[in-house]
Amino acid sequence: MSGKKDKYNPFLVKGFDKDILFCDREKETEQLLNNALNGKDTILVSPRKYGKTGLIFHLFDYIERTNKDFETIYVDLLYTRSLADFIKALGDALVKLPEHTSFGQRIAQFFKQLRPILSFDSLTGDPQVSFTYQTEADKENTLAGILEFINNQPKPVLIALDEFQQVAEYPERMEAMLRGHIQNLHNLHFIFSGSRQALMTEMFMSPKRPIFSQTSLMTLDKIPADKYSAFIKRLFIESNISITDEALTYILEWTRRHTFYTQSLCNKLYSFNPETIDIEVVKKACVDVLEQSESAFMQYRELLTSIQWKMLIAIAKEGEVTQINSGGFLQKYGISGTTSSRRTIKTLIEKELVLALPNKKQTVYQVYDVFFSHWLAREF
Ligand SMILES: Nc1ncnc2c1ncn2[C@@H]1O[C@H](COP(=O)(O)OP(=O)(O)OP(=O)(O)O)[C@@H](O)[C@H]1O
Ligand SMILES: [Mg+2]
Repeated sequence: MSGKKDKYNPFLVKGFDKDILFCDREKETEQLLNNALNGKDTILVSPRKYGKTGLIFHLFDYIERTNKDFETIYVDLLYTRSLADFIKALGDALVKLPEHTSFGQRIAQFFKQLRPILSFDSLTGDPQVSFTYQTEADKENTLAGILEFINNQPKPVLIALDEFQQVAEYPERMEAMLRGHIQNLHNLHFIFSGSRQALMTEMFMSPKRPIFSQTSLMTLDKIPADKYSAFIKRLFIESNISITDEALTYILEWTRRHTFYTQSLCNKLYSFNPETIDIEVVKKACVDVLEQSESAFMQYRELLTSIQWKMLIAIAKEGEVTQINSGGFLQKYGISGTTSSRRTIKTLIEKELVLALPNKKQTVYQVYDVFFSHWLAREF
């Protein structure tokens, strides 16, 4: 034994902890900071689980540790369905900021005037706010009031609105409302982050929808192979675990360098507490992660129609497909009817079971969940 048992597993499978456990993203961090310093808002998009939220926390941590050019606020919009939810999410994010800072003190003062109901989450103990509104206009005024308060801070404020695509589903015309406010808030900078690339781009760029001025689009890509490989090797070596180059290559290829899956597989490998990692050890970890998720995968079958299920298996078996509507591909897997197969693909994309990644030449289709993809290819 090499004494690593008492160490935390360094391969994070959620959130952000500290820099040494975070791989690369240097250029992206600098770009985000630069945009904000130059008064530009950023639209940050990527498929799910590439690392948008991690990148935002990494940036905020960097700002905190260095010259602190900005106050930072992180707002998670994932579970919001309306303007009222949006205001609550923003309010919760504000009251969560540490009260010992001068910004935190001003927030506490501000909320005293607004008189929301303050409570505490029974599980996490985090403070929460709730507002009551008499009229629709009350909501907009409350939002305007909060934004104006933030805008009046002595230091510029950088706000990340994560899962921003949710806003498109609110019954209110939220984008128009936000645009109206944002144009007058010169001390406030935004990161709009989301995973539905087409929807996000449409929200910002389409002439049919309100356009935000001065936004810069950042598409987060996969972490480069050389950087990721060096990172994984370093974390293992720091725990006295050696790893072969073939094993590293296998990990990155099998997980398609999709950050969450790469982290999860390495996390599993670390938990084996091995002295050395070679391809055989990696393969064992691959089987383990698939078995772990098997019951969840099997449930998908209940939720899908037989043609959807067939299509998923076909894409999984190919690994990636470019000519998805071609007779050759459909025939090979016994799928008949081009019209219904087109509809099937559209639904699978909407359900986030299939990932459609456009590049300059064509669109590449894959089963979204990398582990599910390998499991389907193996089992059927
Ligand atoms: N640069 C990184 N180095 C190491 N681990 C990372 C890095 N970026 C993200 N991760 C890890 O990868 C996983 C996915 O990251 P994250 O949740 O940030 O993705 P996301 O793009 O926000 O996903 P979603 O669209 O589902 O919200 C998390 O477990 C996170 O800890
Ligand atoms: Mg996220």
